[in-house]
Amino acid sequence: MVSVAPSVPKIRPEIQALQPRLVEWRRALHRRPELGFREVETAARVTQLLRQWGYQPQTGIAQTGVMAVLTGGRPGPVLALRADMDALPIQELNDVPYRSEIDGVMHACGHDGHTAILLGVAHYLAQHRHHWRGTVKLIFQPAEEGPGGAKPMIESGVLEQPRVEAMFGLHLWNDLPAGTVGVRSGPLMAASDFFSCRIQGRGGHGAKPEQTIDALVIGAQVVVAFQTVVARQVSPLEPAVVTVGEFHAGSARNVIADQAYFGGTVRYFHPDLASTLPKKLEAIVQGICTAYGAHYEWNYEYLYPPLINDPAMADLVRSVAEQVVEPALGVVPNCQTLGGEDMAFFLQEVPGCYFFLGSANPTKGLDFPHHHPRFDFDEEVLCLGVELLVRCLEQYIGR
Ligand code: NI
Repeated sequence: MVSVAPSVPKIRPEIQALQPRLVEWRRALHRRPELGFREVETAARVTQLLRQWGYQPQTGIAQTGVMAVLTGGRPGPVLALRADMDALPIQELNDVPYRSEIDGVMHACGHDGHTAILLGVAHYLAQHRHHWRGTVKLIFQPAEEGPGGAKPMIESGVLEQPRVEAMFGLHLWNDLPAGTVGVRSGPLMAASDFFSCRIQGRGGHGAKPEQTIDALVIGAQVVVAFQTVVARQVSPLEPAVVTVGEFHAGSARNVIADQAYFGGTVRYFHPDLASTLPKKLEAIVQGICTAYGAHYEWNYEYLYPPLINDPAMADLVRSVAEQVVEPALGVVPNCQTLGGEDMAFFLQEVPGCYFFLGSANPTKGLDFPHHHPRFDFDEEVLCLGVELLVRCLEQYIGR
């Protein structure tokens, strides 16, 4: 990881002046984190601010989602920006004045920052409504961390009437130094699927294995065999991950386990793997269970598809980033992660680009990874986020 911000970003004074308010909004959200589809207070706070600035936000979309539409002074393209609002079931360990007041819930992924940035954009656009051309939909989405708010928002029609032509969004990113921008054409983030498996054997006495079907040993073999799927059955040029994240079997040291349960996640970019990987995994479960005479229940769930950036929109974001931060040092090309994101559903519908805004600052101790109980980010980048999104809109409209 590089450790210093490369240069002073070029932010217009009106947006720079918003910085203290962005921090205030972000901290207020950070104090009151809410889990997916329970963002009641968050949505109310967002709605209240939007109303103050003259918007007539729609609320309760896909339960807790909010959308505000800005119509400029003249006709033009229809664009959308999206921020997610939900927090995680993590107990915050940061000792900061704005620390989470909700036990066991924390903004540990920066979605409080995303919401604050989109509020900043809303504020700026409202002040410049008359100079503006076209329509901008500001989408505040619930439940990104699962089970996913993007899909139900799309099903509620947020991309229609009028139909959205292009869409942008960003994620604060502690894998990159504060003030940098990570952007990529094509797949940026991976598909995120989940599986679980219950193996039914026959329990018995720890000293009489011949009378049993040991579900624990069978499950362990399946877990080990899963490690070879990516290593031996997927092209080394095609990134993929199979992770078994939980395994439960057995109850006593002298008892052979009757059942074993395990579950995990699968990540990949290439859409073909969506059909082949689950089959390869189940074939292993089936083969090993058959060999030992055990039964199994296999469950595979597609959560989010790969997030694919439109090449022209990614070029637009890259060119915007190069105008705002030092191109040689501050724009990180070909950024990619096997993390998942339900912005992917929006980008299946509309050409757009999702990008990373570097937010780590090791000199301030702000470099814990996302989803860590001590995650926090450098708030200095909030106004940079606003500038980048506003410029994406301006550049698209000015094309
Ligand atoms: Ni996130």
